[in-house]
Amino acid sequence: MLTRENVIEAAESVAAPYKAEGTQITFRDVVVKDRHVSMTVIGAAASAESALEAALREALTAAGAETVHCRFRSGEAAPQAAGSAGAAAAAGASAAGAAGGAGPVRGHGAGLEANPLLGGSSGTHFIAVASGKGGVGKSTVTVNLAVALARRGKRVGIIDADIYGFSVPDMMGIEERPEVVNERVIPIEKFGVKVMSMGFFVEDNAPIVWRGPMLGKMLRNFFAEIEWGELDYLLLDLPPGTGDVALDVHQMIPQSKEIIVTTPHATAAFVAARAGAMAIKTEHEIIGIVENMSYYISKDGEHEYVFGRGGGARLAESLNADLLAQIPLGAPDNLATEPDFAPCVYKADTDTGRIYLEVADSVIAKCEA
Ligand SMILES: Nc1ncnc2c1ncn2[C@@H]1O[C@H](COP(=O)(O)OP(=O)(O)O)[C@@H](O)[C@H]1O
Ligand SMILES: [Mg+2]
Repeated sequence: MLTRENVIEAAESVAAPYKAEGTQITFRDVVVKDRHVSMTVIGAAASAESALEAALREALTAAGAETVHCRFRSGEAAPQAAGSAGAAAAAGASAAGAAGGAGPVRGHGAGLEANPLLGGSSGTHFIAVASGKGGVGKSTVTVNLAVALARRGKRVGIIDADIYGFSVPDMMGIEERPEVVNERVIPIEKFGVKVMSMGFFVEDNAPIVWRGPMLGKMLRNFFAEIEWGELDYLLLDLPPGTGDVALDVHQMIPQSKEIIVTTPHATAAFVAARAGAMAIKTEHEIIGIVENMSYYISKDGEHEYVFGRGGGARLAESLNADLLAQIPLGAPDNLATEPDFAPCVYKADTDTGRIYLEVADSVIAKCEA
């Protein structure tokens, strides 16, 4: 069987002649699934990328791979992106540094290679949570998966990248606003999860009317100007659909994986399939599908499938991904008077809380294999 170790060994055996001057070629995010291999190649000479890709394909095919997908990134540290730091820039009030630099990460991601989370030596796993449409529970899943990962001892962050429809602070019961220390914004931590949201920078829930390019800068600032510290997992709550932000995420975080949320309804799953198709197009690995609002447990313990049945399973099948969980209908019965109240976070010792812990375990198994 083809293993990660075989792949790395085979890749290393052919890589050296293609390295850029003064660096070594290293391989990151090596994923082997059913003889399909994908990896990030760091430190190749730009002029040698296609030759190296061909050599890797040959070596890995010989080792038993069926397909080989390589992403290339330069090895040297790019200069830290300039930016008039702080909440003002994060809120987009000033025109933050235009995307400069000639690195291989382009567009809004340019210059972010030296960012400790995104750079070559980061051990952070990025998971974008996507859905075809709004209202299916994408933010609920993001928040509860993040909290469950933290309950499993992981260092976790959330970027609420649903810039028009931010809801993560409210869902987690966060009322404070982030502080700025040494021109860096300190994320708010709750339930062991560090959170950054546009909601922190908008007065009185004022509507935001921005064009696409500004959204990209926003996301960029969420990396460049935020003091995340070290993280094992960074979850991104994407806006619904397959728009600009999904593409920005792809440019900035090509190694990001995805979870797709749907309801059991056939139409919802059909719409969610488009988000899945986008993930496949951007070559993001799909960790799995979460079906939310799957059933309602009636007073006599019956499962009632109020929104239909089977959407998640069908979507999983059509995307060749796993159905990670089916989450029942029902808001957490938290009391607004209890300390650390959060309207949308299920406690660890509830049925739904336990389902989220299982999702966290699956995610850990897949990301840290
Ligand atoms: N399993 C569930 N049971 C009951 N209500 C839910 C469930 N999942 C989400 N909700 C509620 O449904 C609404 C939409 O969920 P949300 O996570 O905001 O969706 P999205 O981010 O996809 O727009 C919210 O009010 C949320 O509290
Ligand atoms: Mg949402």
